[in-house]
Amino acid sequence: MEKVGIIGAGKIGGSLLVRLAESDGFDLAVSDIHPEQLEPYRSYGVHTTSSNQELAERSDLIVAAVKPWDVAQVLGEVSPVFEGTGKALVSVAAGVSISSISEKLPPGTAVLRVMPNVCASVGLGSAVVTTNEPGREALPTVIDIFRHVGDVMELPERLFDAATALHGSGPAYVALFADALIQAGVREGIPRDVARRLVVETIGGTAVLLKDRSAHQVRDEVMTPGGTTAAAFVAMEKAGFVAAVYDGVNAATQRARGLGG
Ligand SMILES: NC(=O)c1ccc[n+]([C@@H]2O[C@H](COP(=O)([O-])OP(=O)(O)OC[C@H]3O[C@@H](n4cnc5c(N)ncnc54)[C@H](OP(=O)(O)O)[C@@H]3O)[C@@H](O)[C@H]2O)c1
Repeated sequence: MEKVGIIGAGKIGGSLLVRLAESDGFDLAVSDIHPEQLEPYRSYGVHTTSSNQELAERSDLIVAAVKPWDVAQVLGEVSPVFEGTGKALVSVAAGVSISSISEKLPPGTAVLRVMPNVCASVGLGSAVVTTNEPGREALPTVIDIFRHVGDVMELPERLFDAATALHGSGPAYVALFADALIQAGVREGIPRDVARRLVVETIGGTAVLLKDRSAHQVRDEVMTPGGTTAAAFVAMEKAGFVAAVYDGVNAATQRARGLGG
């Protein structure tokens, strides 16, 4: 049974833990600086500790699920444990490169990067993964781990900042759009709870349609020439909707660059 240790019982680490624990295929441990964060995972049979070093000692694969600016400190704590072992380090931190992680660990350590998103908490996440050469052996296991919380693809590291901006932050953009759409419905007189249900089901249903159709196909199926959707598109394009999306993803990509050094 694979021994997996997760440092940081937050949104991403916690989602992984619950799904992996339910699958029964892993020997799991978790550490966090806040003991109260660890409490919920005990009932899943997960080993809990406030010591990152102890966690690294008992695990073959260590997932650093802390904020980018906390990664260096975590690596400093666990680095001695990696000496002379085949342990692998997996980082989910935005903007922290494999080379900046490798230089804080013994030479030749397997280092993998994964960029997941918060949809992992409902098993519908999407993630990209990349690795250094020593990490190749652990790659299938890491892909298997993140398949427990959604879809996983390999992607070259040079595109990680863009992927972070696209799907890492993506749920927040969709939520922003959902909020605007609900407000728009309310402004037209639809009761708030009805508007909310209509928008949530519309977003969920469209996501299913988009699995096997292009975005253009879905648009064309809805848009009658000269009809209501066409009128909405004219107004939205005039207001710079598409350009705002391009600008937002570009700003997030720039921000991801070098977040954690
Ligand atoms: N949330 C997302 O949507 C998302 C999406 C893609 C990628 N990510 C990446 O995933 C990583 C984790 O994000 P998250 O949103 O899950 O963070 P989070 O909810 O803040 O969870 C991190 C947890 O680790 C704790 N922690 C901080 N320093 C620690 C240390 N030295 N040792 C042990 N535990 C420590 C934190 O405590 P404190 O609260 O006191 O810091 C917190 O409880 C980030 O690097 C982020 O870039 C997040």
